Amino acid sequence: MSSILIKNGTVVTASDIQKADVYIEGEKVKAIGADLPMKADQTIDAKGCYLFPGGIDAHTHMELPFMGTKASDDFETGTLAGLHGGTTTIIDFAIQKQGDTLNAAYNAWQEKAQGKVYGDYAFHVAVTDFNPKTRSEIKDLVQKQGVTSFKSFMAYKGALMIDDRQIIGLLDETSKFGALVTTHAENGDLVDTLIAENRAKGNLTPKYHPLSRPPIVEAEATGRVMDLAHYGGHPLYIVHMTCEEALERVREGTKRNQKVFVETCVQYLLLDDSVYEQKNFGGAKYVMSPPIRKKKDQEALWAGINQNLVEVVATDHCPFCMDQKRMGENDFSKIPNGAPGVEDRMELMFSEGVLKNRISLNKFVEVTATAPAKIFGMFPKKGTIAVGSDADIVIFDPLKKHTIRAKTRHMNCDYNAYEGWDVTGKCRTVLLRGTVAIDDGKVAIQKGFGKYIARKPRGEWLT
Ligand code: URP
Ligand code: ZN
Ligand code: ZN
Repeated sequence: MSSILIKNGTVVTASDIQKADVYIEGEKVKAIGADLPMKADQTIDAKGCYLFPGGIDAHTHMELPFMGTKASDDFETGTLAGLHGGTTTIIDFAIQKQGDTLNAAYNAWQEKAQGKVYGDYAFHVAVTDFNPKTRSEIKDLVQKQGVTSFKSFMAYKGALMIDDRQIIGLLDETSKFGALVTTHAENGDLVDTLIAENRAKGNLTPKYHPLSRPPIVEAEATGRVMDLAHYGGHPLYIVHMTCEEALERVREGTKRNQKVFVETCVQYLLLDDSVYEQKNFGGAKYVMSPPIRKKKDQEALWAGINQNLVEVVATDHCPFCMDQKRMGENDFSKIPNGAPGVEDRMELMFSEGVLKNRISLNKFVEVTATAPAKIFGMFPKKGTIAVGSDADIVIFDPLKKHTIRAKTRHMNCDYNAYEGWDVTGKCRTVLLRGTVAIDDGKVAIQKGFGKYIARKPRGEWLT
């Protein structure tokens, strides 16, 4: 069995920071401590570097067929880009085609991933048609395939959205098996009404995208799905929360002792809605749902992280190149929704979050790795650096300065949402299950190295 000794680094977990060596045998961490005496096949000097647990991006859409096109990263390019950026595991959404089965979605997504994927991966299954047949599939997906989270869309009517009755059924059924429902919380009918109003007035440029999805759209849906979950006594996870109004619904929920897991994404912490004013159709780069909000919402979300109301920072990585975005050149509602980010998340959260004193180093690890591992049934295999855990480790140089540019990133997208941003801190070496995957920008594994991670249901994992 091959072995690696990482010497002289500072190991950071969600709870501790310690100068320590890490000894790895095969895929696992075997020992952590000062001046470890073991001899290994390979020794890596991590002097001056942090050792972070490999990042877990709990919200990606590789090769998603959506709005007449498909996301430009597939499992090969997307997970390789993730590894370059310190994300060793993704949880992607296998999305049921309305009329098809959940198993068909799961199998289709496995087919997209198998043999191509560089990083480790798991699936949430998105239920776009909850009926007796799909209800009957849930038990085996949880117990046989390790799919312990599902998704309900409250928007995108006619394609992905399910109604409240279906959401109630999904909450009830998944709960029986210890699985978690994740929700895209936007009021789809209100969105469609506002889009129609804007189009009727000839308001067709990208800036009308956020105006068709104001915060009330998100806050109403968040409050509603929380009420449904609370009434049934179910846990709930809200994806990509963007605004103070929605977060206030969560804060209200805490008063009745309701626990709702909240995810936000890097773009909602770092960008504001002035992006929609960019010239030459530049605003289209930021057309995603929910939209980018105001500076005051960024502040509310950072505070929410520190108040433990927001547990996870993901990306909703769903890139479309500019020629795809141009499908909506004459009508903002036809711009494919989504943006790249899987490669940017860890470095941005360190540079903008830790170095700007918005979050602590431990919190950085918690929101980018530990909390998603715990919430989604992968802890302590993933999400921490501990004896017995997978040796998914990012050796991170906290002083290295660089500038984000689409052309030096590895995502298959011709723009970057943070083009020209100067950041401090870079992923130097990335290990996945005890193998060096990326070293100084060079790829050291073959495609197909990534493994599917079957997850544990609630009860076996919830802390
Ligand atoms: O705009 C977005 N977020 N696109 C991806 C699909 C979704 O809603 O998560
Ligand atoms: Zn969504
Ligand atoms: Zn999404």
